[in-house]
Amino acid sequence: MEGNGQLRATLSLFDAVNIALGAIIGAGIFVIIGSAAALAGPALILSIIIGALVAGLTGIATAELSKVYPKSGGAYTFAKEALDDRAGFIVGWVWLFTNIAIGATVALGFASYLAFFLPSVPVQIGAGALIIAICAINLLGAKESSIVNNVLVAVKILVLLVFAFIAAMSFRIANFTPFMPFGVQGVLAGAATVFFAYSGFARVAVIADEIKDAKRNVPKATLISIAVSSAIYLAVAGAAIGAVGYLAISSSQSPLADAMVGLGFGFGATLIGFGALIATATVALGSILGLSRIAYTMARNNDLPAFLARVEKGNPVPAAAIILSGALMLIFSCFVDLASMAYVSSFSLLLYYLAINLSAIKALRGRTRIVAALGAISCVILLGSLPLVSWLAGAGVIFLGIVYLAAGRKLFAG
Ligand code: ALA
Repeated sequence: MEGNGQLRATLSLFDAVNIALGAIIGAGIFVIIGSAAALAGPALILSIIIGALVAGLTGIATAELSKVYPKSGGAYTFAKEALDDRAGFIVGWVWLFTNIAIGATVALGFASYLAFFLPSVPVQIGAGALIIAICAINLLGAKESSIVNNVLVAVKILVLLVFAFIAAMSFRIANFTPFMPFGVQGVLAGAATVFFAYSGFARVAVIADEIKDAKRNVPKATLISIAVSSAIYLAVAGAAIGAVGYLAISSSQSPLADAMVGLGFGFGATLIGFGALIATATVALGSILGLSRIAYTMARNNDLPAFLARVEKGNPVPAAAIILSGALMLIFSCFVDLASMAYVSSFSLLLYYLAINLSAIKALRGRTRIVAALGAISCVILLGSLPLVSWLAGAGVIFLGIVYLAAGRKLFAG
């Protein structure tokens, strides 16, 4: 009873870059930058650069692999083709959990900012409302959701640039001394923390089937999105620390808004709050988009139940996959707290990036292979900087995946 419509290649390079930026710029720069500053001090700047390098190395591996395998699925497809069928399944499984966790985390972040404006709205209600809204937008189709996404990305970038501009006017170099109060260890811990802010660049490879001229545009969009987000993060963090010092932003749940208040720009806090709502909403939108497409691709390969691959002629989106992804995010956002979600997200995210680099080492030759090896090592170093609880959660996710692989997958095999 499968519908026989297919996903269409409707997205341009510009759309693809914006889909990545929609997934990248979110709770990381608006919220988690504060915790990273607490760990690294003014050397947060270095943490951001290290994060950009790790993302860049993995981005190059993603870009090169997407030339070899220009079809939907991202690391799931890469691991299936370059490693083996089972490794591919586990990578896809981890990726599904990563994005459910990221989606739930940013939905909770959205709800916290919503409560800032509307204190009577409970956090779970705010998160639930956002998740339902983004599911509805995704059900309209990739092109329609991409137009909405392009506008939201432009707004959040504009808000961050306005912040950087205002803060830069009060820049004092003295706020950067001492530069590295917590040493190299602090810088690495800051990098692992702020790395959450870079997740999302691999999203383009996940939806390759829907991008025009995928072989050329997927690698370009991946690298452009990392470059643009790194530049914005550096400008925002540098201006914030230079203007108010790292201590002022390190103890806040809304560090950029508080920096504005500290500088005497009351309207700035409202502007930043508005930007944070837009940013977290676009990240959540991108999460559902990517999640539904991976579930679709995995179901098409008999790795998940076939109804998830059902695509109707009239409306070519995998509706069941979108609804199920949203339902799972909803459950997590109701029952798990934001901090635990963020740890699980970061851990499984780095595992996923490690899998991309391992696939690249196997599938590629020459210099890109060395880049992938460096990418793999850098992911392991950041994994090592995360707390034990995230390792335990990651092990639990992999265990469930192995159980499904051993028992559940056969039940659904067509
Ligand atoms: N990179 C995404 C964010 O910062 C997950 O919200």
